[in-house]
Amino acid sequence: MKTVLNLSVAALVLARSIYLYAGDDYEEHGHHVSSVAAKPMTQRDKSAMALYTKECGSCHFAYQPEFLPKRSWDKTMNTLDNHFGTNATLDPADHKTIQGYLTTHASKSDRMTGMGGEVAIRISETPNFKREHREIPQKMVTQAEVKSFANCTACHTKAAGGSYREREVRIPNYGSWE
Ligand code: HEC
Ligand code: HEC
Repeated sequence: MKTVLNLSVAALVLARSIYLYAGDDYEEHGHHVSSVAAKPMTQRDKSAMALYTKECGSCHFAYQPEFLPKRSWDKTMNTLDNHFGTNATLDPADHKTIQGYLTTHASKSDRMTGMGGEVAIRISETPNFKREHREIPQKMVTQAEVKSFANCTACHTKAAGGSYREREVRIPNYGSWE
């Protein structure tokens, strides 16, 4: 019913394009997915990504930086001592590498998030996210196997590869979406 996508998973991994929601016409039609083009990954990017995945992926999924603009990532990185009730501080060298990685690959425009002047640090609280997930009943989210919308990988089986196609969604205890 939505979503026309064409790159293979292999291409996703290699080129690291990722499929998110914001398309140019997202606003008008609400349901277009476009690929966020691959910023080419240098060797330095790759090791920064590995560090990010290790450090920021230990408590939850390592969210793709493209989901939020630079100002959101800066805010997150500047408040790690009080990060959603946890302390996620890093040593200064790692902090710098990870902040650089996140801000380099951050979304370039607010079309991605639908965010206005405010600076959301949760992807799950951005307007486009909320709109995209508005039809999902609360009980599917609050159940033990999911807990919250922050737990992308509970439902998006290919999220780690940067792919959020609707047909890849499997909601625990409910199955595919549609
Ligand atoms: C010590 C554990 C821990 C570490 C390490 C950690 N986080 Fe988190 N993070 C959390 C918790 C807890 C939440 C809230 C999860 C929830 O609401 O279910 C969260 C939520 C988030 C969210 C919001 C998710 C959403 O859209 O709702 C982002 C973005 C985030 N973290 C980024 C980071 C980054 C970047 C790093 C690395 C610098 C990091 N986190 C490291 C514990 C951690
Ligand atoms: C409870 C399961 C669940 C969780 C958790 C969840 N999603 Fe989703 N997501 C869905 C479903 C179902 C859809 C399709 C909604 C629709 O079309 O009405 C969707 C749609 C999307 C889309 C749009 C895909 C498309 O084809 O238009 C993106 C992007 C997305 N989710 C990203 C995320 C991210 C990032 C997270 C974590 C921060 C997340 N989701 C957490 C279930 C979930």
